[in-house]
Amino acid sequence: MASVGCTLLLCWCFVGLYILSYTAAAAAANNVTYDSRSLIINGERKLLISAAIHYPRSVPAMWPGLVKAAKEGGVDVIETYVFWNGHEPSPGNYYFGGRYDLPKFVKIVQDAGMLLILRIGPFVAAEWNFGGIPVWLHYVPGTVFRTDNEPFKHYMQNFTTLIVNMMKKEKFFASQGGPIILSQVENEYGYYETAYGEGGKAYTQWAAKMALSQNTGVPWIMCQQWDAPDPVINTCNSFYCDDFKPSYPTMPKIWTENWPGWFKTFGGRDPHRPAEDVAYAVARFFQKGGSVHNYYMYHGGTNFGRTSGGPFITTSYDYDAPIDEYGLPRFPKWGHLKELHRAIKLCEHALLNNKPTLVHLGSQQEADVYEDESGSCAAFIANLDDKNEKTVQFRNVSYTLPAWSVSILPDCKNVVFNTAKVVSQIATIDMVPEQLQPSTSSPHKDLKAGGWEIYVEKAGIWGEADFTRSGFVDHINTTKDTTDYLWHTTSLFVDKNEEFLKNGNKPRLFIESKGHALHFFVNGILQASASGNGTVSPFNFTSPVSLKAGKNEIAILSMTVGLQNAGSFYEWVGAGLTSVKFKGLKDGTVDLSNTTWTYKIGLEGEHLSLYNADALNNVKWKSVSEPPKNQPLTWYKAIVDAPPGNEPVALDMVHMGKGLAWLNGEQIGRYWPRKAPTDKCVKACDYRGKFNPDKCNTGCGEPTQRWYHVPRSWFKPSGNVLVMFEEKGGDPTQIRFLRRKLSALCAHVSEDHPSFVTNNLHKNKASLELKCPMNTYISAFKFVSYGTPTGTCQSYAIGDCHDPDSRSLVQKLCLNKSECIVELTEKNFKTELCPGMMKKLAVEATCS
Ligand code: GAL
Repeated sequence: MASVGCTLLLCWCFVGLYILSYTAAAAAANNVTYDSRSLIINGERKLLISAAIHYPRSVPAMWPGLVKAAKEGGVDVIETYVFWNGHEPSPGNYYFGGRYDLPKFVKIVQDAGMLLILRIGPFVAAEWNFGGIPVWLHYVPGTVFRTDNEPFKHYMQNFTTLIVNMMKKEKFFASQGGPIILSQVENEYGYYETAYGEGGKAYTQWAAKMALSQNTGVPWIMCQQWDAPDPVINTCNSFYCDDFKPSYPTMPKIWTENWPGWFKTFGGRDPHRPAEDVAYAVARFFQKGGSVHNYYMYHGGTNFGRTSGGPFITTSYDYDAPIDEYGLPRFPKWGHLKELHRAIKLCEHALLNNKPTLVHLGSQQEADVYEDESGSCAAFIANLDDKNEKTVQFRNVSYTLPAWSVSILPDCKNVVFNTAKVVSQIATIDMVPEQLQPSTSSPHKDLKAGGWEIYVEKAGIWGEADFTRSGFVDHINTTKDTTDYLWHTTSLFVDKNEEFLKNGNKPRLFIESKGHALHFFVNGILQASASGNGTVSPFNFTSPVSLKAGKNEIAILSMTVGLQNAGSFYEWVGAGLTSVKFKGLKDGTVDLSNTTWTYKIGLEGEHLSLYNADALNNVKWKSVSEPPKNQPLTWYKAIVDAPPGNEPVALDMVHMGKGLAWLNGEQIGRYWPRKAPTDKCVKACDYRGKFNPDKCNTGCGEPTQRWYHVPRSWFKPSGNVLVMFEEKGGDPTQIRFLRRKLSALCAHVSEDHPSFVTNNLHKNKASLELKCPMNTYISAFKFVSYGTPTGTCQSYAIGDCHDPDSRSLVQKLCLNKSECIVELTEKNFKTELCPGMMKKLAVEATCS
């Protein structure tokens, strides 16, 4: 009996557990709907801060840290595009491994307790090669991208369905208990729809309907798509979206792309968007009724390999984002926005549950007050004046507002945050160079340990020619983007009686190209290099050339630098040579444009996979004691140790010319230390006033990109195979690894600064926060002073007034901690010191 009773009890337990877990599973399914004010998740209104992190722009080993840093920055949602061309390299052949392991990425977000916005596209723009659409689709007969075109719609639906089903299988939609709360179809098609005429309109409607038919159980969005049909939500992309109006009064105001910085192009300047202005834009959006906001990008990352679009987009996609390319929080931007997010979250209830009252406080000053009878009240007070500070009266209290700023008052009384007052810590980051350390052992028996090996390609056709024809072909139609490179060769006969052979006046070469770049060789010698500018790829150029009497071998290496990523009919934008002429010969102009050209797609070294650590493919390598310098068309290889430490790593390629780099067969990307113009940079950026990408540039006259991120997880302790293909010549002896190291952490705050810790309002209690990056701890203090310290980070000095115990107090609170908060209270400091003087706390710390 006893045993039967026990079994029964167990049975009941199981039934009970089953019911419990069943209810838990049912409860876990989240119902995502919306109304005019916000998204509503399980009946609860939500105010959401989202952060774009594109999974293939970092590596799986970095994903958990990036997501964690976003969460610590006060972010609720991660947003990513889906990168079709990475997932379907050839029709029906799918890849979801490594950096393209989308389910793994989503799971990491889910495990962090965060939500996800999945922008499936599958067109994405994103400064990504071909806007994310596989190049092969352009060659499926009859295909026109992004219009009412059957083959395009077929493949787009096929891929969208594949992704949706994959997410469903993992129960990733909120409707299934997963993190995905919104999905996007298409991307900013509204700008281009009219260019496609009737087909454009029909395509928009088709895309929306196709998306809805996927039955994800969560809402769909389309950004910058004013005619998106109900229930698909049209969302805003811009530097500012406070004035944005959803297409239907039933829909919430969603900002899918707030650009906290901007991307870079090889040969361009380095754009920066000040943290004050980013915060201002975000605060204005929430002031004016916004409820979902996404930073594009929160972590930009790296365009590894040949994934960058453009053309000419750099390998770095740092974006001046709150988390830098290497995964470290960017201060003060990350910290300032974290404070902003806290302030906004303190207002969440009042914002979402009350209608705002607009109060004019001056010609360019206004408050939006969200208040109800129960006493819940939050106010945002903005000063739109982009030059002057202004003091306003609000509910009988006076508030001084810096120019172009928003103050946030979660109780309609106390300012907890002003967008123009940055108190976040700042960090000094050094790139510490490390000589390449030749490994003493090699991973493969055929690879020589230490030293350099090289392989020099021939200028022109290697192996069998691919084809010969009169005149020029389109570069992209020929390579189909399987490589950047296309060789063109022909010959030119020069009569021995040509004047220039005697007088030394070299003939001139005149070249026209649809883009992107080329190197011109005569008789194996590099004569000239040229490329398009900015994102405009067509170019022409002229240069003197050396020709000899008799037959001259002409070889032109034409290159693409990332395919077009956006625009109407962008897939038809071609590249490559259109005209080659010589002037200065006795027959006048010699036009080779329609002569017979012989073509070869790609490089020999690519064909042999010389970049792979796999020894079988390395038969061509030759050991050298010193790697040759300034030698075009050269493959370089070194077997090296990993740089010491665990900081993020970069490769310094500033002494090289142009080419591609790999580590252990992983594609680092295109390198090109192409210099930015020497003008239109700023010494200091004035955050006030509307931002545009040219407003706050740095890097004039400097290479746009010098450092190339090499993820730590690609390294082994030793025996790493570093390979470069150099097109035009450089000095490989100058290549260094660099460790991205934080050298100083500084923060200062004055006692009148309003502050709040976690979610509590601390009236008139300023506080200072310190945080070390990536598993490091506060190890020492170089400077601490409560009183009237002077100077700036790394040059702070004690002022007339100084609390001698401030150092020991701060050490007690912070030493050996990864982060700490120090409040400027009587308990902590001698606040009675120097009466009548405004005191502040300044610290400089090191992390290790
Ligand atoms: C948007 C586009 C994004 C990205 C951004 C600029 O127009 O939707 O994909 O290209 O511009 O970084």
